[in-house]
Amino acid sequence: VPAEACLTLDGFAVHDDFLTAAHSAALLEALQQRCRGGQFNAARIGAGAVTARHGELRGDSTCWLNAPFEACETDLLARLETLRSTLNELTLLGLFDTELHYAWYAPGMRYARHVDQPQGRDQRAVSFVLYLNAGWLPQHGGSLRLFLDSATVQDVAPLAGRLVYFLAEGREHEVLPAVRDRFSISGWFCRRE
Ligand code: OGA
Ligand code: MN
Repeated sequence: VPAEACLTLDGFAVHDDFLTAAHSAALLEALQQRCRGGQFNAARIGAGAVTARHGELRGDSTCWLNAPFEACETDLLARLETLRSTLNELTLLGLFDTELHYAWYAPGMRYARHVDQPQGRDQRAVSFVLYLNAGWLPQHGGSLRLFLDSATVQDVAPLAGRLVYFLAEGREHEVLPAVRDRFSISGWFCRRE
């Protein structure tokens, strides 16, 4: 079953090797360059004008993928456009736009159980996360935990090149703490306002 079809069957999909090792490494380098350039900010929770830092609930720092782009970023945007149109053919979600940011979780940082639709906004129809962590081992922790129903969780390790995506509506999930730095790109395919 192609990963795209899992989204409609199961509500989530894991696509390993969505990126080559070289592409993932180039994106990690681009992330670190933006970090050195002071483009990362401590993530906040909440919506609209009402946001706050709660590091114990959400400990990552983020950086929106804004122009000017590195070549590896332009390539990624093209790959995601292809995925967006494939998902539009398979679902009737009317995915119109893409938002994405880099995320860096320092060791011990987590993101407590949450949903990705800030209050009063339901444009984020599909959530996705692309991982940039070469050599990640089970003992490093840091899995994404998806709550599938009251009795079932699905843990997804943040392996380089792996893309995970899921229907955002009502889908609770959390990021477990890791013992090493954890790098990723989080994004959403959105409907029109
Ligand atoms: C998020 C998120 C999951 C992950 O950024 O909203 O839930 O595995 N990320 O990084
Ligand atoms: Mn989330």
